[in-house]
Amino acid sequence: TTTITPVSSSSSMSFSSSSSFTPNNKLDLFFSPDLIPAQVIAELHPSVHLRPLSSTDYHRGHLSVLSVLTHAPDPGYSAWLKQYEAMRSSPNTYYPIVIISKETDRIVGAGTVIVERKFLRGLGRVGHIEDIAVDKREQGKKLGLRIIQALTGLSESRDIGGCYKTILDCSDENIPFYEKCGFEKKENEMAKYA
Ligand code: ACO
Repeated sequence: TTTITPVSSSSSMSFSSSSSFTPNNKLDLFFSPDLIPAQVIAELHPSVHLRPLSSTDYHRGHLSVLSVLTHAPDPGYSAWLKQYEAMRSSPNTYYPIVIISKETDRIVGAGTVIVERKFLRGLGRVGHIEDIAVDKREQGKKLGLRIIQALTGLSESRDIGGCYKTILDCSDENIPFYEKCGFEKKENEMAKYA
C-alpha cells in the first residue's frame, strides 16, 4: 500500500492505493480520456500516464507543478474545486490535461487548451494553449512535447475542438521548444494551422 501525502499544508487528505497510481476509472475526470489522441498516449515515456485533470488532482501536486511556470498560490482545496467546477460548467470549452508519475501518483506535467468560438471564419474556432508546465526534475523526457501534441490534437479534432488554428503566447526562450512542437512564430503569437 502506497500512501501519497498531499503537498499542500492546507490539505487534510491523503491517498492510499494498492497500485502505484490511480487508474482513470477510479477518478472523476474533467472530460473523457478517450478524446486524447491514442498516438500521443502510445508515444509517452513509460514512467508516466497522461489523462484529463481530475477533481482530486489538487492533492497530487497540481499547483506545485504550475508554480514552475509562474506564481501559483494555494487557495485551499474547496476554492480549487470551485474553480474546477466553474470551468467544467462551460462544456466543450476547457480541456485541462496532466501527466502523472506512475511510481508516485504525483503530477509532473500540466497544460490546457481552451476552445474559443468565433463569428468570423464561418463561425470558426481557435484553440488557445495555456499554462504548460513540466516538473523541473522531469524536463527533457519529451513530456512537454507530448502535452502540446495532446492539446493540439484535441484542438484540431473535428469531434472536439474543430479549430482552424491553435495559438499560444510564450517567452523568447521557449520559442525553440514550440518550434520543435511544430509551431511557427506568427506576429506576436506562436501558431499552428490545422
Ligand atoms: N530551448 C530549446 N529547446 C528546448 C527548450 C528550450 N527552452 N525546451 C525544450 N526544448 C527541446 C528539447 O531539447 C527537445 O528537443 P529534441 O526533440 O531535439 O530532443 C524538445 O524541445 C522537446 O522537449 P521536451 O523534453 O518535451 O521539453 P520539456 O518536457 O522539458 O518541457 C517546457 C518544456 C514545458 C518548456 C518545460 O521546460 C517547462 O515547464 N518550463 C517552465 C515553464 C514554462 O516555461 N512553460 C511554458 C510557458 S508558455 C505557455 O504556457 C503557453
